[in-house]
Amino acid sequence: MTTETRVDLYSADTYAHAMPHDAFTSLRKHDPVLRQTEPAGPGYWALTRYEDIVTVSSDNSLFSSERGGTNIEDMPEDAMTLLRTILINMDPPRHTKYRRLVATGFTPKIVAQTEPHVREITKRIVDNVAKRGSCDFVTDIAAQLPLAVICEMLGVPEADHAKVFDWSNRLIGFDDPEYNTSAEDGRIAATEMFVYAHGLAAERKARPKADIVSILMGTEVDGDVLAEADFDGFFILLSVAGNETTRNLISGAMLALIEHPEQRARLIADPALITTAVEEFLRYVSPLIYFRRTLSRDVEVGGQQMRAGDKVAMYYPSGNRDEAIFGDGQVFDVGRAPNPHMAFGGGGPHFCLGASLARLEIRCMFEELLRRLPDIELDGPVQRLRSNFINGIKHMPVRFTTE
Ligand code: HEM
Repeated sequence: MTTETRVDLYSADTYAHAMPHDAFTSLRKHDPVLRQTEPAGPGYWALTRYEDIVTVSSDNSLFSSERGGTNIEDMPEDAMTLLRTILINMDPPRHTKYRRLVATGFTPKIVAQTEPHVREITKRIVDNVAKRGSCDFVTDIAAQLPLAVICEMLGVPEADHAKVFDWSNRLIGFDDPEYNTSAEDGRIAATEMFVYAHGLAAERKARPKADIVSILMGTEVDGDVLAEADFDGFFILLSVAGNETTRNLISGAMLALIEHPEQRARLIADPALITTAVEEFLRYVSPLIYFRRTLSRDVEVGGQQMRAGDKVAMYYPSGNRDEAIFGDGQVFDVGRAPNPHMAFGGGGPHFCLGASLARLEIRCMFEELLRRLPDIELDGPVQRLRSNFINGIKHMPVRFTTE
């Protein structure tokens, strides 16, 4: 490592106050394939350039998701066996078959049909705060929409929404003191979710409703049907992937608009810019910090020789500001086009399944907020999540003119 790039990308402390964009810039320039140590493991390769991330994302047979999972920490084999029941930790051909099945719940038609409902939920969320003049943007606004959308898609009754919220916090929050959990508690939360999902799937199989669980339980693709056990892993993935990411995108984008008043004014003056603005929110915020792959055989990436069994982590927030692709990548520009960002991954078989749903939620939320609460300002310190995986904000006190 050169002196310019002395940064510990593994430590959650590195992300505690802000994304380390200066360090990323330096790494892209001097050490784009960094050898990063970990306290309880053999270390891994940290990729910070856009092109290298695309290379690794696009080839699942060489860069495996199944072998060691998608998080940096190596897990004991029994835990890995459980993790491999989750789509994101599968390689083709299992991944291809399973993804075809679950994709039936995320077709553009199904997502488009959801729009009126997403709008209605968004309106309800804004109604709840609009007369108060101040609130916690994260818990009162940003966290509410993805949670309600995912729970309703999955057919989770309203009385259980809080349970899903709590489980997903415990699953991803074990590096953060506020959630006061441990990796062990994360595993307990996962087990509780498995049991819950199992009950839900069995019930919908017996008595189908108009939700995604019923669609998935009744779908057949090329003679395959989704087993109830397979559904459990999908339930966990959706609850976490659909919640934490979208919540932190909405909070991060609001903060970016507050910090760039000229961009907010531009968007309010020209609401048609919302489409490019949503893509810029995704690029600029990048709610997911990394995903891991494990090498199936020896290969060279970015000029660096790697060995079979080595781990690589793809740093999306860095790829998303790579000057080779975006030029002025540090600039927040709601009209940016083209914008081939990698907030949903660097392409390839695991590209975010919920991308169109996430885009819909983000668009509805900001259309509603910019119209009804156009002068949201900070009203206290922003508290970030301590995590090396999610670029998150836990609390963001705001104030605004009441309706
Ligand atoms: C701003 C919001 C979101 C971001 C930034 C995001 C980001 C990502 C990323 C980076 C991946 C991995 C891509 C890869 O490895 O190549 C992924 C996968 C996935 N996402 Fe999202 N996501 C978001 C919202 C959602 C939502 C709303 C859902 C579902 C309701 C969802 C469901 C999934 C699933 C199921 C996968 C695994 C796909 C696979 O392994 O084939 N995501 N997402």
